[in-house]
Amino acid sequence: MVRVFSGIKPTGAMHLGNYLGAVRRWVASQDRSSPDSAIYCVVDLHAMTMPYEARSLGEATRDLATLLLAAGLEPDATLLFVQSHVPEHTELTWILNCVASFGELRRMTQFKDRSQAGEAGAESVGAGLFDYPVLMAADILLYETDQVPIGDDQRQHLELTRDLAARFNHRFGDTFVIPEGTFPPIGARVMDLQHPTSKMSKSADSPQGTVLVLDDPKVITKKIKSAVTDSETEVRLDRAAKPGVSNLLELLAAASDRPIATVEAEFATSGYGTLKTAVAEAIVEVLRPLQERHATLVADPGEVDRVLAEGAERARAIAGGVMERVRAATGQLAPLRA
Ligand code: AQP
Repeated sequence: MVRVFSGIKPTGAMHLGNYLGAVRRWVASQDRSSPDSAIYCVVDLHAMTMPYEARSLGEATRDLATLLLAAGLEPDATLLFVQSHVPEHTELTWILNCVASFGELRRMTQFKDRSQAGEAGAESVGAGLFDYPVLMAADILLYETDQVPIGDDQRQHLELTRDLAARFNHRFGDTFVIPEGTFPPIGARVMDLQHPTSKMSKSADSPQGTVLVLDDPKVITKKIKSAVTDSETEVRLDRAAKPGVSNLLELLAAASDRPIATVEAEFATSGYGTLKTAVAEAIVEVLRPLQERHATLVADPGEVDRVLAEGAERARAIAGGVMERVRAATGQLAPLRA
């Protein structure tokens, strides 16, 4: 069995980048004959690493789980759960913290970008943001994961996970499976429509540049039509010189499941307007089934909670076994009976 694991943060509404870069592949990885081989997690503890509203976190977590089911995850073909429902994630994080070095965490580009974004710089950001990649490593290693389907932005964190697993195994004996990242050929980095040199992101303040998976078709069309392009007229893939047009070509290729060269050749003699119309239509189409299933699921929140309760139980059974091996390998005294 090849085990696949990945997670998504309840930090805001799910967007097209999350869907094309990650979630769509999660759906494709499901296997009804081996439901524990595809494990997906709403990583609520990660959402706490940036300022957030405590009163909204629980609802955001349930909403995101609902969206994942609407995207096509099926409870009897996969394992879906909420990270904080399995306490082994935080326990393993502590142990991996004792294996990770300050220097390697300080080099993580996502930490550097986010810690420098605030006025006071790195001094004022939470230690949780600094430690985020170790929690992510714990998430992955707890499930004996072989493959981690992620977008390009998580590549560096996955490398760190591999390094920590190898270092732990070397120091304490073979305990963890060393996971591999898998990246989609197209859609690994969906860019913001208004700022096509930045990735589309849940927490970016760019409502016109971000297509949400639940956006109304009319809104999607409007956002695509107002996407930033350039002052030329030629439709051509050139990520450095033409980031806006290249992003539209990638979106069309990803949404219509065609090679990017085919899409580029088809629109080589068209104007930007024609390309945008085709992109909008393809995106509306690719999101239609998700939007329809979502409407049904929100009417029955009890069903989502049932799936999450069962998922946590199954996840604890796997994570608990791995954690027992970790405690023994690291030399902890087994709990004593009075
Ligand atoms: N723009 C993107 N293109 C392709 N894949 C993307 N992913 C995120 N943005 C893009 C992939 O989506 C999965 C879940 O991401 P996450 O929620 O764990 O956090 P993130 O990567 O930090 O995504 P966001 O949307 O930018 O969230 P915020 O703003 O809260 O940090 C991951 O597999 C990711 O690669």
